[in-house]
Amino acid sequence: MSEEVVTNKSVTYISNATPATITSSELDLASCYKDNEVVIEVHAAALNPIDLMTHQLCCSYVIGKYPKTYSRDYSGVIVKVGKNVDCRWKVGDKVNGMYEHIYGERGSLTHYLILDPAKNVPITHMVEVSKDENDPYDDFVYAAAWPLTFGTAFTVLHDYKKDWSPDSKVLVIGASTSVSYAFIHIAKKYFNIGTVVGICSKNSIERNKKLGYDYLVPYDEGDTVDNVKKLKENELKNKKFDMIFDSVGNHDFFPVIHQFLKPKEENSFYVTIVGYNKINYKNVSWRQFLSLGNILTAINPFKKYNWRLCQLSSSNNYIKIGNQMIKDGTYKPPIDSVYEFEKFQDAIDRLMSNRAKGKVVVKMK
Ligand SMILES: NC(=O)c1ccc[n+]([C@@H]2O[C@H](COP(=O)([O-])OP(=O)(O)OC[C@H]3O[C@@H](n4cnc5c(N)ncnc54)[C@H](OP(=O)(O)O)[C@@H]3O)[C@@H](O)[C@H]2O)c1
Repeated sequence: MSEEVVTNKSVTYISNATPATITSSELDLASCYKDNEVVIEVHAAALNPIDLMTHQLCCSYVIGKYPKTYSRDYSGVIVKVGKNVDCRWKVGDKVNGMYEHIYGERGSLTHYLILDPAKNVPITHMVEVSKDENDPYDDFVYAAAWPLTFGTAFTVLHDYKKDWSPDSKVLVIGASTSVSYAFIHIAKKYFNIGTVVGICSKNSIERNKKLGYDYLVPYDEGDTVDNVKKLKENELKNKKFDMIFDSVGNHDFFPVIHQFLKPKEENSFYVTIVGYNKINYKNVSWRQFLSLGNILTAINPFKKYNWRLCQLSSSNNYIKIGNQMIKDGTYKPPIDSVYEFEKFQDAIDRLMSNRAKGKVVVKMK
């Protein structure tokens, strides 16, 4: 037997009828990778709602009865490099990124992740996060915490409207989500957008004010649409928004959208990353995804506004821009909580609570 055989532990599931569990397999580090692949010893991985959704929607009769590994975001150290891999990637490099997969046997909640860096392009060398002496987290935790959410926010701001300016106005439904945390930083510090209004719970208003939102409206005090309408009349000189960004799953504004969103001829967009309804993470069903509201909004040829359901695009440059903003100190990944590998279920429960403020991260070491 090779002297380089290690035990690789991963958090996996078979279907929605089986819980997430730790599974172990033997991995021969001398031979487990191809010429175009690297082996990363993972130090930290972050959970995302998509992990909860794919698990709960998994029917093994359709998808297959093999173990599927949790998570996409990772940070770690390269321990093996195939002979055809670009010379940018070397043994000992600290890297982070987003391993894109749906129902992959490989995922990032594992001790060793094998990937082709030319194909799994959201990968970069880690940068140091500015910290004070009381900061409880190390760079691996921060590095695992941002690629997917930052990339999603960047895609929303970058891929649709092309002419952002200090006069631009954006309404964010779900100002407290991790994606919106990245969104407000990118909007203000990268695209120089003048006015961003957020909608969040009244308990989160103080927290979100510090992030840079110009105005915040509670969704749990009075009627949200009315509250935004008053704000628009009193504070925005009744000017309409260039973009409404929904990171929750909402349709409250559709019946009166012409009062809030500029006409589509002015290059305005309603962009959602969820859909018509909020998804209950504790009980995810296909019915929520394939709701009539979602289908009608998507296909209605008569709607008078640009509506987009945004999917994270891994082809744009977000990983470089995220790194640069972290280096500049204009973005620091938000951490809600960190769990030991063996306590992965507590991490899943925390994300499922839908109260996390920042990323839920699992540490391997
Ligand atoms: N399409 C894509 O490519 C893509 C990529 C990433 C994420 N997503 C989706 O985007 C959503 C957000 O993901 P995330 O990881 O950023 O979420 P998250 O960080 O887990 O969001 C948690 C926050 O949501 C807020 N919230 C809960 N209920 C709310 C409501 N009814 N209205 C407004 N805010 C509410 C809570 O703050 P309050 O105190 O304000 O309630 C909580 O702190 C998820 O549904 C996820 O699946 C899609």
